[in-house]
Amino acid sequence: MDLGLNNRVVIITGAGTGIGRAAALTFAEEGARVAVIDIDSVAAQKTVEMIEEKNGVAIKQVCDITKADEVQNAIQNIHNEYGQIDVLVNNAGLSRDVTLLKMTEEQWDFVMDVNVKGTFHCCRAVLPYMKERKWGRIINIGSRSMFGNLGQTNYTASKMAIVGFTRSLSLEQARNGITVNTVAPGFIETDGIKSLKTYPQLREIALTKNPVGFLGEPKDIANTVAYLSSEQARYITGTTVLVTGGRFSS
Ligand SMILES: NC(=O)c1ccc[n+]([C@@H]2O[C@H](COP(=O)([O-])OP(=O)(O)OC[C@H]3O[C@@H](n4cnc5c(N)ncnc54)[C@H](O)[C@@H]3O)[C@@H](O)[C@H]2O)c1
Repeated sequence: MDLGLNNRVVIITGAGTGIGRAAALTFAEEGARVAVIDIDSVAAQKTVEMIEEKNGVAIKQVCDITKADEVQNAIQNIHNEYGQIDVLVNNAGLSRDVTLLKMTEEQWDFVMDVNVKGTFHCCRAVLPYMKERKWGRIINIGSRSMFGNLGQTNYTASKMAIVGFTRSLSLEQARNGITVNTVAPGFIETDGIKSLKTYPQLREIALTKNPVGFLGEPKDIANTVAYLSSEQARYITGTTVLVTGGRFSS
């Protein structure tokens, strides 16, 4: 199936590592012009170089998505460079795990700011360009943790918020040719997770609980995101696609 992504302009936040980088590489392989947004300049540059090594087209914008003015600047620069914006993947996200009674207000705010407010800022900045061309795809990265996970009240709340945000925005933009969907990954073996001290135990637990009997890789999420970004997915909006190997709750 031809995804029709050739020459599309695709912005991916948090594309310096992990799932975001895999998505950036996948879009570049499909012929898209990629914009890598990340707070980490070195990581973003590495993704750009990986794409260029394969003769793909990519630029980077170093930006903290919690800052409205930085996001506006980055999106403006990308539009100046490429002349259009077709796809936004709101992937940058993080967790600060601790049980509620020990959670500080800073830990709560930090997770909500990056995971929710960052998504708001990026959508608000790209939508005028998508509306202008009557075509757009927004994919928000949620998490299976939205169903509840010990020590993750802040993260769970942020990822459930993304599901509601997606639904409302999809209704607002449906008549403008813009679809908005959430992709909710389960346990994905990123380099970041593999570098954790507790990785062997985490892997074992995740494997035991996983119905399909194997763990997902960044490419599994990237492929889903690429499909939802295509013209072929034009009738899919406002929904959440779980990419979890069949695992739902904790
Ligand atoms: N890896 C998993 O198992 C898993 C499971 C479910 C959901 N997710 C979600 O998938 C997304 C990507 O996860 P990952 O594991 O690849 O993460 P990661 O930590 O490997 O990468 C996240 C990237 O986001 C960037 N970032 C962080 N804060 C930022 C900010 N304020 N502004 C701009 N960039 C910022 C980081 O520099 C990093 O490059 C996240 O939203 C995460 O919640 C991951």
